[in-house]
Amino acid sequence: MVKATAPGKIILFGEHAVVYGRPAIAAPVSQVRATAVIEPNPTAGVLLVAPQLNTQTALNDAPPDDAFATAIRQVQAALQLTQLPDVIITATSDIPIASGLGSGAAIASAVIRALAAYLGITPTNEWVSSLTYQVEKLHHGTPSGIDNTVVAYEQPVYFVRQQPHNRIEPFTVAAPLRLLVADTGVRSLTKEVVGDVRRQWQAKPARFEQIFDACGRITEAARCVIEQGDVAEIGRLMNENQVWLQEMTVSSPELEKLVQAAQQAGAVGAKLSGAGRGGNMIALVEEEMETAVSHALLSAGARHVLLTILENKKPASQ
Ligand code: PMV
Repeated sequence: MVKATAPGKIILFGEHAVVYGRPAIAAPVSQVRATAVIEPNPTAGVLLVAPQLNTQTALNDAPPDDAFATAIRQVQAALQLTQLPDVIITATSDIPIASGLGSGAAIASAVIRALAAYLGITPTNEWVSSLTYQVEKLHHGTPSGIDNTVVAYEQPVYFVRQQPHNRIEPFTVAAPLRLLVADTGVRSLTKEVVGDVRRQWQAKPARFEQIFDACGRITEAARCVIEQGDVAEIGRLMNENQVWLQEMTVSSPELEKLVQAAQQAGAVGAKLSGAGRGGNMIALVEEEMETAVSHALLSAGARHVLLTILENKKPASQ
């Protein structure tokens, strides 16, 4: 039996603007994970099992837009295998879906890593990331590539979408950052929100270029202060990024309620994370304010709140 896992993720700075070539910063959320387990199949063929969805599908019967099957087909194509071994691949996840925590990328990454391991290959993070990107395209249309990158590398990354290769830079987190991740409970499809931002950008290109530039400058400044450990300034930049996300119309009443509750309860900064219009928000807190902010978020309607501490550590696997 072979098992592989991949973490959830949050975007700290620069979502949406990253699709238009501006930098963004994302970090893994290691407490919530997707897991893939591969065992020999006593009968012929590859069987895909998703217990939480109550599905069991033969790979040969899976439609072309099935994400689980696409992850497997990507590995098969990349390794130029005419046939796969007879296996049962089971995927599970405790990352909430459609909530900006990268559940789709994490499941694909875990499946790709597990299948490679079963086939006797130790893949690089870059390889896992690039195959995951192909799966992400199914859900997202025009993904920037940041989700698959942070999930496959499992470390904080500064990311710029560019040709021929994306700029992917791990960076130092000088002071550990305590982040509360709160779920609005509202599901939102990244593809739809990204499509809506694109329509607005097409209608008002000058205005949206200005907004994306502002987000890019915030991300650049954030990287510097994260490397210096200036927590107060990081929080201020999060609040500023949130204002630009409101301008893009990707916030929502539920997200605003949580952001304001966190700020009023003493968070250093707060913003939505990911595509927006629902999903999760993040609040940066000093340790002594953690409980108060967490309670305020729950009182303001958060479905659940988890704490993740962003610090430099060795990647889980290479
Ligand atoms: O998958 P989500 O909801 O965290 O959103 C991804 C971030 C976006 O910048 C909105 C889209 C992208 O592809 O980068």
